[in-house]
Amino acid sequence: MKYGFIGLGNMATAIIKGMVQNNHFTAADILGFNRSFDKTKNLVDTYQITGCTTLEEVMKADVIILAVQPQSFAELLPKVNEHLFPNQTVISIAAGKSINYLEANLSKATTIIRVMPNINAIVGASTTCFSASKNATNEAKEMVITLFQTIGSIVELPEEQFTIFSAIAGASPAFSYMYIDTLARAAVRAGMDKKQALQIASSAVLGSAKMVMESHEHPWELVDQVCSPGGTTIEGVTSLQNDQFESTIFDAVNAVIKKDHSLA
Ligand SMILES: NC(=O)c1ccc[n+]([C@@H]2O[C@H](COP(=O)([O-])OP(=O)(O)OC[C@H]3O[C@@H](n4cnc5c(N)ncnc54)[C@H](OP(=O)(O)O)[C@@H]3O)[C@@H](O)[C@H]2O)c1
Repeated sequence: MKYGFIGLGNMATAIIKGMVQNNHFTAADILGFNRSFDKTKNLVDTYQITGCTTLEEVMKADVIILAVQPQSFAELLPKVNEHLFPNQTVISIAAGKSINYLEANLSKATTIIRVMPNINAIVGASTTCFSASKNATNEAKEMVITLFQTIGSIVELPEEQFTIFSAIAGASPAFSYMYIDTLARAAVRAGMDKKQALQIASSAVLGSAKMVMESHEHPWELVDQVCSPGGTTIEGVTSLQNDQFESTIFDAVNAVIKKDHSLA
């Protein structure tokens, strides 16, 4: 099966890197086309993918991945539609472009899958979701799962939950980076070197996420386990609660959702 990327920016580069490092895919079966050729050449040189110089060439792939900015869609989609052939699957990773919009602009497409990866794809740790058009086969969905597992985890969601997903998986990496940096800054205030503090804080956050995912215990049970009676941790937990920790996070998630709705 051949995979054709249109747009070879940050996100396509991360996905292609994940694919070529995975045994399931062959670099030569990955076709890439970008508006400016330097990015295509760079990926051909780095990963030995098949570089395309025209849209017609990349449209010969079985699976087309639209990885341009959403604002380029109006100009690009009529040209993509012109070259679509039966049984091709179209994947869009563009933020804010619904399946309805894609179906309306790609009348020749039989299967459309909307995918939302996140920035952590760059280190193979994206939290991704997808939603498929009504007639998508299980085979097509399996293909998408296999493809995006090369850059992390993927879950199928009803499209109406993409906004919520974009808050807790798309925007939350920024919140988590802030939390890690704040922990490290607090350590600096207490006398630790910043570089070392960052290393320790990020490792602790990574370990805690692993614990929540693998212990199958409720996060609050884990909190209780760390808080020994009369100990130090309960002081920090109480301080966070007194400072409205939960409602601060609720507000941040709601702010993202509100903005997303206003853009739609
Ligand atoms: N970055 C993220 O964290 C993230 C997360 C989730 C979803 N996404 C989605 O992923 C898509 C790509 O994002 P990105 O961050 O990779 O953007 P990017 O780095 O700006 O890459 C977009 C690429 O598309 C190329 N391009 C634009 N119009 C084209 C056309 N008509 N034909 C061929 N190539 C064209 C651009 O070429 P030039 O170099 O010539 O400009 C550029 O290399 C967006 O739709 C975004 O919403 C991104």
